[in-house]
Amino acid sequence: MPRDASFDLAPDLLRAPYEFIGDRCRHYGTDLFEGRLLLQRTIFMRGREAARLFYDQDRFMRGGAMPEPIRATLLGKGGVQGLDDAAHRHRKQMFMALMTPARIAQLGELTAAALRTEVERWARMEQVVLYDAMQEVLTRAVCAWCEVPLPEADVARRSRDLALMFDAAGAVSARHWQSRLARWRGEGWIAELVRQVRAGHLDPPAQSPLRAIALHRDLKGALLPRRIVAVELLNLLRPTVAIAVFLTFIAHALHRHPECRRRLEAGEAGYAEMFVQEVRRFYPFFPAVAARVRHGFEWQGYRFPRGRRVILDLYGTNHDPRSWEAPEEFRPERFLEWDGSPFNLIPQGGGDHDLGHRCAGEWVTIELMKVVTGFLVRHLAYEVPEQDLRIDMARLPALPRSGFVISRVRPQA
Ligand code: HEM
Repeated sequence: MPRDASFDLAPDLLRAPYEFIGDRCRHYGTDLFEGRLLLQRTIFMRGREAARLFYDQDRFMRGGAMPEPIRATLLGKGGVQGLDDAAHRHRKQMFMALMTPARIAQLGELTAAALRTEVERWARMEQVVLYDAMQEVLTRAVCAWCEVPLPEADVARRSRDLALMFDAAGAVSARHWQSRLARWRGEGWIAELVRQVRAGHLDPPAQSPLRAIALHRDLKGALLPRRIVAVELLNLLRPTVAIAVFLTFIAHALHRHPECRRRLEAGEAGYAEMFVQEVRRFYPFFPAVAARVRHGFEWQGYRFPRGRRVILDLYGTNHDPRSWEAPEEFRPERFLEWDGSPFNLIPQGGGDHDLGHRCAGEWVTIELMKVVTGFLVRHLAYEVPEQDLRIDMARLPALPRSGFVISRVRPQA
C-alpha cells in the first residue's frame, strides 16, 4: 500500500478537507494509501468498493475511531456513533423507531410552518443570509418535533449553540473552543429536561423523541445516564439544524441552474427528488468517516492490520468518475438511471440504516430538502444581489462564501 511520507497529514487534511484523499489517491494511482493522522497510522480510502468494505461490520468497528476533537464538539461522547454490535443495534433502533413516514412528514409540516412565520420577518429586512436564517427555522421545527420546550426568548441562543456544534467543530483555535463550549451548554440544557421528565415535572407526549430517549433502556434494562440521553437528543437536534447547509446549497443550485428551477416550478413528476439527490451528491458537506480494523485481514492484496484506523472519503466517493459520469457537473437527470446502490451515493454514510452506522436522519434530510425546495420555487419571491458565491472548500462545512444572501423577499400565495 502506498505510504505517505509526511510527518502528519492533519495540516493537509485541514487545508483541503474534501479533496485531500481524492488528490492523494490520484497521485498514487490507487483507491487507498496510508499515512499518519494526529500521530496515528491511518488508512485513507475512497470509491464504491472501498465503501462496501468499510461498511462490513465483521471487519470494522467504531469504538474509539473518531478523533477526540470531533467527539468533544460534533458528536458528543457515549453516543450511538461510537457503539458496536448488539449495543449499537439496540441504540440505533431507538432512533429508527422515530423515523416513520408519518413522523417525517410531521417534521416537514413543522418546517414549512416555521418558514411561513419567518418569511414575514424576512420581508421586513433589507437582506437575509439564508444559511443563518435557515438555522433558526430548523431549530424551531425540530424542537417542536422532539417536544423540547423552546421559549421564544431562547430561540436565537439555542440555534447558535446547535450550529456551533457542527459549524465550528472542524475549526482551529478559538472557534473550536466555542464549539466545545456550545456542546457543554447544550448537554446541560437537555440533561436538565431529562431530569424533569424522569421526575414527572415535564410530561412530553408518548412516543415523542424527548420521552422516548429519556426513558429508553439499554440491553440490561437500565435508563441511560442523563448526559448520554443529552448526547442522543442532540443527535436529533444538531444534525437537523445542519440541514441548513444543504438548504443553502439548494438556493445556490437554483440560482446557478435556472433550467432546474423552471422544471421544479412546473412541478415535473419525480424531478424534485432527483434535484435533491443531486444537491446531496454534488455539494460538499460531511467529508469522511472513521472506523478501526476489528481483526486483521487482506483486501485486494493490501494488508489491514488489527486496530488500524481507516478513513472513508464520502465526498470523493460521491465524485468518483467510475460511478458518476461527469461528476463535476450538476445534472439531476443522472438519477433517472441511478442503480440505487448503498455504496456509491454516500453523503450521509453507506450500507444499511438499521444494522450499520448509516445516518439515521437521511430520510428526514431528503424530506426537508424537498419541502424547502418547493417553498423557494413556489412560495417565495426574492432577489440574489451581487455577492461572492464561490464555495469555500477549505471551510468545514463548505459553504458559499457569502452564506447566500437574498433581498427583496416577498411571500407568494
Ligand atoms: C450518522 C451525515 C442529517 C442523525 C451520520 C453519518 C453521516 C451523517 C456522514 C455517519 C455515517 C457513518 O458513521 O458511517 C449527515 C448529514 C446530514 C445529516 C450530511 C444533513 C444535515 C441527520 C439528521 C439526523 C441525523 C437530520 C436526525 C434527525 C444521525 C445519527 C447518526 C448519523 C443518529 C448516527 C448513526 C449511527 O452511528 O448508527 N450522519 N446527517 N443525521 N446521523 Fe446524520
